[in-house]
Amino acid sequence: MKHRTLGRTGIPVSEIGFGGWGIGKSMWGKTDDAESMRALHAALDAGIDYFDTAYAYGHGHSEKLIARLFKETGKKGTVSTKIPPKNMEWPAHSRTALEVAFPPDWITLCVERSLRNLSTDCLTLEQFHVWTDTWIKDPLWPEVAETFARLKKEGKIRFVGASINSDDPDTALELVRGGFVDQVQVLFNLFDQRAAERLFPLCREKNVAVVVRCPFDEGGLTGELTPTTKFEPEDFRSHYFGADRLAETCRHVAALEKAVLGPKAGKLAVAALKYCLSFEAVSTVIPGMRKSSHVAQNALASDDNYYSAKELKAIAEHRWVRHFSL
Ligand SMILES: NC(=O)c1ccc[n+]([C@@H]2O[C@H](COP(=O)([O-])OP(=O)(O)OC[C@H]3O[C@@H](n4cnc5c(N)ncnc54)[C@H](OP(=O)(O)O)[C@@H]3O)[C@@H](O)[C@H]2O)c1
Repeated sequence: MKHRTLGRTGIPVSEIGFGGWGIGKSMWGKTDDAESMRALHAALDAGIDYFDTAYAYGHGHSEKLIARLFKETGKKGTVSTKIPPKNMEWPAHSRTALEVAFPPDWITLCVERSLRNLSTDCLTLEQFHVWTDTWIKDPLWPEVAETFARLKKEGKIRFVGASINSDDPDTALELVRGGFVDQVQVLFNLFDQRAAERLFPLCREKNVAVVVRCPFDEGGLTGELTPTTKFEPEDFRSHYFGADRLAETCRHVAALEKAVLGPKAGKLAVAALKYCLSFEAVSTVIPGMRKSSHVAQNALASDDNYYSAKELKAIAEHRWVRHFSL
């Protein structure tokens, strides 16, 4: 497993990180804790040391499983967690007042709760689970910024980040420019390549870490979905890939495979991870994983043999910005 630096935090992190949404048992259909724990153990064994979670992933369930992993192994990793918006609205809307989404007392409450769930005294990286740049001009912003400063002073958090709205990677550019965050997490994959246009160069300039999420487009880029794949009703993908969306995704995949499969990647899932790691701005990519077999396969994608500028240009022909999102 290769490592990169998590921007200006200076923390070395594995190029492949662990996406902890699925193990939270909230929206991914049947999920077995024993299998999730095996996946987490496999991650440590494969050299994965960056774990992304959130309170919203099963009301702290994902956070608690990660704490259990560290307790069982006596090992540690870098964990990023997230404060849900108090109004529970994803994505963040530019018309929503900061008071409604992230009032200071809510921020403090959520930090304390994640500290308990993760069985730790200090959160290495606490993220806003949604963000819109209009909040920087909100009258409450100075108080929110002061709350984070206090929590840092008290030793309860070390670094602050923001998880950017899935439908627009440019909604946190002002936040990055202003120097408040050390990290951003953004949706980026072989289909949705927009974050590379403005966000990545800005983050490089400011030395703000980029954590890439949804490298598999929720499964669309694993190469395992077919037009007849069925999801359980309680799996959000029964809607995400509903109507003709699955067939449309499969059509795009068929064209894309011609551009990405070859000596560097024999399988689409490997290509999907290597694509993300082809950008220097990216510190780590966090596929969602619930199975140890997936962990083992994904970890192998970190081999320093990524796509060249010429190959990336050919891949850019296959950009597909979805008209549907989470
Ligand atoms: N707003 C936010 O802040 C936000 C939103 C979304 C995601 N995230 C974070 O980003 C992480 C990744 O995103 P995601 O989990 O939504 O989507 P993703 O990584 O694009 O896709 C996850 C899917 O890929 C499958 N998979 C993983 N490795 C595979 C392999 N080697 N072969 C075949 N299939 C494989 C998983 O299978 P199984 O179904 O079998 O597990 C799961 O269905 C999340 O876990 C979470 O930490 C944050």
